[in-house]
Amino acid sequence: MKLAKLAYKMCEHRLACSAARHIVRSVRRLGGLKSYRLPLEALALDAPVAAGLMRLWQRIHWSSGDGMMPADELLNIYRLAASWPGKGDIVELGSWVGLTTSYLATACEVRGEGRVWAVDTFEGTKEGGESYPSIERFDGSTLEAFRNQVAKAGVKKHVSEMVGYTTEMAKQYRGAPIRVLFIDADHSYEGVRADFETWWPHVSPGGLIIFHDYMMADVARFVDEAVGQDGRVTCLPGSVVPNVFAVTKNMVMSTSVSLLALGPERHFRPSERNDSPSQHKGAKCQ
Ligand SMILES: C[S@@+](CC[C@H](N)C(=O)[O-])C[C@H]1O[C@@H](n2cnc3c(N)ncnc32)[C@H](O)[C@@H]1O
Repeated sequence: MKLAKLAYKMCEHRLACSAARHIVRSVRRLGGLKSYRLPLEALALDAPVAAGLMRLWQRIHWSSGDGMMPADELLNIYRLAASWPGKGDIVELGSWVGLTTSYLATACEVRGEGRVWAVDTFEGTKEGGESYPSIERFDGSTLEAFRNQVAKAGVKKHVSEMVGYTTEMAKQYRGAPIRVLFIDADHSYEGVRADFETWWPHVSPGGLIIFHDYMMADVARFVDEAVGQDGRVTCLPGSVVPNVFAVTKNMVMSTSVSLLALGPERHFRPSERNDSPSQHKGAKCQ
């Protein structure tokens, strides 16, 4: 038994070393560490996952560009999507110009399995019937920019578009059961709730649901009050950046399950929180 544990540790160590070597080599090739904020975090990736990231960074610039997400959040979402166990597809609610889509699709490429369903009106839809002002730069539609980005990232064959409102598209979804659901569309309480509820039946038991913009009061309110209380999900502790909140769909209603050794599994009990949602500094697992 001890021998098996030792062998496992050695194997883990070897993987980390090989990932580190790969990253250092790639970073050198890309012009040195100077412009990189991320390699230290990237060192925590397994070798194949790191290699996928490096491939992506050779095709598209690692910083967010026209996307809406800072690089550390992108990296965390990529890491989760690439390493979360199980089989199935990834659904992304809110794709904008395809930056997160490219990372999620790279995760599929690395795993050799699954695809990303990118769901968006591509009209810059925002809460309350408004639009993102920056949609004007895209003449009212980000679809072309989205397609260009996905093509540039070299992941076109792993991506399917679903053009329309997220809740409508849930009714039309014919993909595989969802291994990872990424929610980043309408950030109002009602919007997040509608996205969560309409897509919930498509998520595999044990699937991962990632909420972006947890620092926004409405998103946090939904996650804390609604999701936290009904026992359908378990919070994934400790391993994500504050603005990214991940939960797993429980295998059996009201029973939490340990899925990955990402840290000690804990129940999410919002009633024990002592900060108000509007003052969120980061996700908490109680
Ligand atoms: C914050 S942006 C997504 C950013 C993208 N995930 C990234 O980081 O690169 C939100 C996107 O969701 C879309 N959206 C918002 N509400 C929507 C809805 N109800 N149905 C479909 N798309 C929606 C918008 O058009 C916009 O492209």
